[in-house]
Amino acid sequence: MWLITAGPTREYLDSVRFLSNGSSGRMGYALASEAARRGKVVHLVSGPVGLSCPAGVERVLVESAREMLLVCREALSENRCEVLLGVAAVSDARPRHCVSGKPAKEDLSKILELVPNPDVLATLAGMNRADLCIGFALEDMDEERGGFVGAVERSRSKLERKGLQAILLNELASMERDRGECWWVERDAEPLALGAADKAALAIRIVDQIQKRLQD
Ligand code: C5P
Repeated sequence: MWLITAGPTREYLDSVRFLSNGSSGRMGYALASEAARRGKVVHLVSGPVGLSCPAGVERVLVESAREMLLVCREALSENRCEVLLGVAAVSDARPRHCVSGKPAKEDLSKILELVPNPDVLATLAGMNRADLCIGFALEDMDEERGGFVGAVERSRSKLERKGLQAILLNELASMERDRGECWWVERDAEPLALGAADKAALAIRIVDQIQKRLQD
């Protein structure tokens, strides 16, 4: 089984308002679709997106990070997992309380207190139930942040911290776009450029790389 998280999460502060981010879910869905096309059993755990479920993929829709973690945990404890792929743009924080109704906007600053969300991928990788754990890192490559070299360094420390075997580094500019550019980053190897392409083509290159890594 391949377990893939995708899309944003929504963290409600009242019955109508939530914290989220601009993830479209396209990269995660393209990967799920490509893996299914190659005959893999794919479980896709997705936050709210405007995309239909790819053919041959089993999808569970979730909203919050905690819900995403719960569903993934269950899938991992029930099935042997070959590849765990964290593509979701999980909200880093959630409101401490979710109140019912729609409080007046003047009261928002009084009710909005943030607490950190669990790291879904790190928690799942820590269960040691997947042969390969892979994440994504969306990094700013501005010169003030050390350019490409700085982005690779941050990706490597993310990889260590989360207990992953590889991370796909991509640029901030790829968010909400059809195209992207990414690099396969491991602890002890030079970053491998997978090139710039639309997300379906990138998904083919990423899945090729994953399969190569599985055979090592
Ligand atoms: O730490 P950062 O958000 O940059 O890490 C990105 C990677 O970690 C992605 O693979 C994302 O799916 C995963 N992640 C997660 N849960 C979080 C934060 C990030 O699964 N709370």
